[in-house]
Amino acid sequence: MDHFKNILAETKDGILYLTINREDKMNALNFATLEELREVFDTVLEDKSIKAVILTGAGEKAFVAGADISEIAELNEVNARKFAENGQEIFSVIENCEKPVVAVTNGFTLGGGCELAMACHMRIASANARFGQPEVNLGIIPGYGGTQRLTILIGRGKANELMMTGDMINAEEARSLGLVNHVLPSKEEALAKAEEILHKIMSKAPLAIGMVVDCVNAVYRSDENGYQTEANSFARCVKSGDYKEGTSAFLEKRKPVFKGE
Ligand code: COA
Repeated sequence: MDHFKNILAETKDGILYLTINREDKMNALNFATLEELREVFDTVLEDKSIKAVILTGAGEKAFVAGADISEIAELNEVNARKFAENGQEIFSVIENCEKPVVAVTNGFTLGGGCELAMACHMRIASANARFGQPEVNLGIIPGYGGTQRLTILIGRGKANELMMTGDMINAEEARSLGLVNHVLPSKEEALAKAEEILHKIMSKAPLAIGMVVDCVNAVYRSDENGYQTEANSFARCVKSGDYKEGTSAFLEKRKPVFKGE
């Protein structure tokens, strides 16, 4: 990941910290940044030393202020579809990552930035975060899954309002709508909250965590019976060593030590 130009990547205590690093452009997502995101999430799945991911933006002003408008301005009907499908595919990889992924959002979290945050498993915001889908101001709509994920997260009425007006909402409103899990006064405190949650998750059985991700996502896969997926995953859990460890530890009144197998 040393060759990345737009993303800083650093692993500490099992957490991979990914920082979108285009501060002079409000961390706008250009094609190159998206491709780096794709590459990094391939690594996340394979690298056993990475147990969880925190995704954030460089500086205090923005998490990500959207897709890079200088690239959007060059689209035609054929490559616009590919543009949307490509972004959707990468965000879907993030959403389906079997290791927990938390977005820590600070400042402007707009357009593709809001869509990126929504593809993560949870969102923790600093008080200065501003959320919105302002694409209508450019004559377009969200194309990286935003019309779907925003509606799922906050409901049809509010999603329509945000996407039709292009208005921004503040962090507290985002929390009250269910778009954000927690709001902390500063970015540092938001990062600390994400670390606290992730360290708790990392003490649990990793296979079970991955199955929670998959079963929750099954709710949104229209061709699938999520209850069946849940029953199948539940059955797979009991084949794992972690199941034996978890149940034995409870009965022996000790803390479990999970190995992810
Ligand atoms: N794509 C490309 N560049 C962007 C960008 C985006 N989505 N958002 C911000 N930038 C760039 C600006 O062009 C500017 O670059 P410059 O210094 O080379 O001119 C720089 O980031 C700083 O932005 P600026 O507009 O000067 O800051 P601001 O504090 O006045 O306003 C925003 C901040 C986020 C409100 C404003 O930049 C904005 O509305 N951005 C676009 C948001 C958007 O429509 N996103 C959806 C895209 S699909």
